[in-house]
Amino acid sequence: MSYLFHQPLLRWAMVGLLSMLATQTRAQPWSFGILADTQWPRYAWYVPADSLGSPLVAALGGDSIEIVSVDSIGGWRNPHTVAADFLHQIHDRFRQHGVKLVVATGDLADESTLDAIHSRATWAQELYESGIGFFPVRGNHDATADVAAEFVRLFPQTQDGIQRAIPADAVLWTDSAQLHPYRNPQALPFAVGTGFSSPEGALGRSYAFQYGGATFALIDIFPGPDGVSLPAAAQLTWLDSVLAARPANTPAFVFCHYPLLGINHTEQLFGSSPVYDTASQGAFIRILQKRGVKVYVAGHDHILQHSLVSSATNPAERIEQIILSGASFKFYPPSVPSVDELYNIPAFGWSREVPLVQDLGQVGYVVATVDGQKVVFESWGAPSGILAGEIFKSGDLSGKWTLRRRWGWSENGKGMRIEPGGSYQVLSDSGAGTSARILWGGWQRSVATRPAEPFPNGSPPTGRAMLIWPAQPGRCGAWSWKRARRPPVRLSFPYGSIRARPGPI
Ligand SMILES: [Fe+2]
Repeated sequence: MSYLFHQPLLRWAMVGLLSMLATQTRAQPWSFGILADTQWPRYAWYVPADSLGSPLVAALGGDSIEIVSVDSIGGWRNPHTVAADFLHQIHDRFRQHGVKLVVATGDLADESTLDAIHSRATWAQELYESGIGFFPVRGNHDATADVAAEFVRLFPQTQDGIQRAIPADAVLWTDSAQLHPYRNPQALPFAVGTGFSSPEGALGRSYAFQYGGATFALIDIFPGPDGVSLPAAAQLTWLDSVLAARPANTPAFVFCHYPLLGINHTEQLFGSSPVYDTASQGAFIRILQKRGVKVYVAGHDHILQHSLVSSATNPAERIEQIILSGASFKFYPPSVPSVDELYNIPAFGWSREVPLVQDLGQVGYVVATVDGQKVVFESWGAPSGILAGEIFKSGDLSGKWTLRRRWGWSENGKGMRIEPGGSYQVLSDSGAGTSARILWGGWQRSVATRPAEPFPNGSPPTGRAMLIWPAQPGRCGAWSWKRARRPPVRLSFPYGSIRARPGPI
C-alpha cells in the first residue's frame, strides 16, 4: 500500500514489448469512436435580456424569469432532448477519422421518452449510412422500461451486429433549423462484429462482441422492459466468460455509463456511492486484471478523467478507468474534495484513486486505434466556453477541435510507476529473446490540460510513457502521452537486429 499511495506525487509509465526481430504479417490498424453523454435539456430557467443584453431580472424582479424551451434558445438544433447539433458535427469528425464503429456510453438523451430515443436513433443512423457501426448502451437518463423496450427494437445490432435502417415509425427530427441527418439509406444493411452475447436478463441491453481482433463488452444496469434491472454484480460471470474466451493478448474494452469511481457524481457501477457493495467492486477489478483488460471506460461525469482505481481492500487490485468528456450541455465541476476523498478515506482509511489526467469544459470524443496488440486512445476536444456549468447554444465547433491527449498500451507490455520528474532509466523489459532499457531521459514537465486552475485535489496532471518494440526492425520508439509529443529519451538494445538510435528520437 505504501508503494502505491503514500508517495505524494506519482507518475505512471508502461513498458511495452512487442514481438520483434522478425517482420511479421499483421492486420491493418483500424479505429473506433467513443462518445459519452449526448443529452440536451428541454427547458431552462431563463432571464430575459434587454436589447443590449443586460438581464431584466433586476428591474422587473423574479417574475421576469421564464421557463423556456432550450431548443428555442439554440435555434432548434437539439430536438427531443438530444444534442443533435454536436452529434451531427462529431459524426462528420468520425467519418474523417475513418472509424469502423462508434460506442456510446449512455445518456443518449436527456429524457427517457420515446421521442428522445427515436430522435437519438435517427441521428445514429448518420453513422450506419456512412458505413459505420453504432453500439450504444443506456445511461441513467435512458432508464425507463418503455425506452428499454424501444432500445432493443431500434438497436438490434446489439444482438447480431447488423446495422439497419431504423423503423419508419421511429424516424424523428425537426427541420426547424434545417439541420438534417445525413442520409444514404442504400448503404444498409451491413454487419459489424461477430460473436454477440448478452447476459440472461439483459438481452440486447448488455452485450459483448468481437471486431478486428478486439473484444467489446457493454454493461447496462438499468431497468429492462419489464421494469426489472440486471445489477452489474449479476453480470460478472457473463463478463468474465466473455473476456476469458477471447484470444490471448488481444485488446478488450469494457464500458458502462457509470464509472467505478466518479469525479463529480457518487454513483458507481455497483451502487450509489463508492462504499456500496465493495465486494462486487473487488470482483469486477479482479476480473479485469485477471483477463488483462487495460481500461474501463465510462461516462456520466462529463469530464475527461483518467485514474487508477483500486478495490476497497487491496491496493494491488486496481484498474485504469477513463471517464469521458460529454457532448452535452452540462459540464460538471470535479468534486472538491474528490469523491474518493469524501467517501473512501473515511470508510477505508486510504485513497483508492490515483488521478492521472483531467480535462474540463470540453465537448469531446475519443478515437481509439487498434494496431494488433497496440492500442492508442486519442481524446479530441472543442472548448465549450466554460470550465463548468451549462450552455444552451451548441455552436459551430469546426476549426476548434484539438487533440487533448494521446494514451495507450501494448497488450504484452508491463507497467511501472515513476516519481514526478523522475528518470526513465528505471524502464526496462525483456522478452522474446532480447531486452530493452532506457539509457537517458525523463519527464520534462507535467501534462497541463487545465492551465487556468490547479488540479482540484492537489495532484498535478501526470503523463505516461510506453516503450514499444514493433515487429519491424529499426522502428523501436518511446511514446509519451503528452499531447502526442515524444519524450527525449535514448534507447538501448543490447542485441538483435535492432540498432540503437544515438540520440533523442
Ligand atoms: Fe448520467
